[in-house]
Amino acid sequence: MSQEIVLHFQTQEGETRSVDAVVGDSVMETAVKNDIDEVVAECGGSLICSTCHVYLDDETIAIIPEPDDAELDMLEGVASERRPNSRLSCQVIVSEGMAEHTIHTPEDQ
Ligand code: FES
Repeated sequence: MSQEIVLHFQTQEGETRSVDAVVGDSVMETAVKNDIDEVVAECGGSLICSTCHVYLDDETIAIIPEPDDAELDMLEGVASERRPNSRLSCQVIVSEGMAEHTIHTPEDQ
């Protein structure tokens, strides 16, 4: 059986929804499966749309791999402000260590 953790998705307005996330899925897949509409993910994870933009907390950034060049290129095209903690959620894989972490969704995708 696949392992699940709880992830929290928080909008810029402070609305938070807590969802079950399957370890090994991407954060984008988790958002889409759970109807988090703030994550659009137009390209379905092919790294060609930038509409899966999220902001991560330091505790999450500390335990995940850094973005590769392709992700960094696509981050140039995000609709909302790009911040140092901006990531494309299709490139961030849910791991056990992310249990109870909060994913912040941007204003626009
Ligand atoms: S879903 Fe398109 S770049 Fe992430």
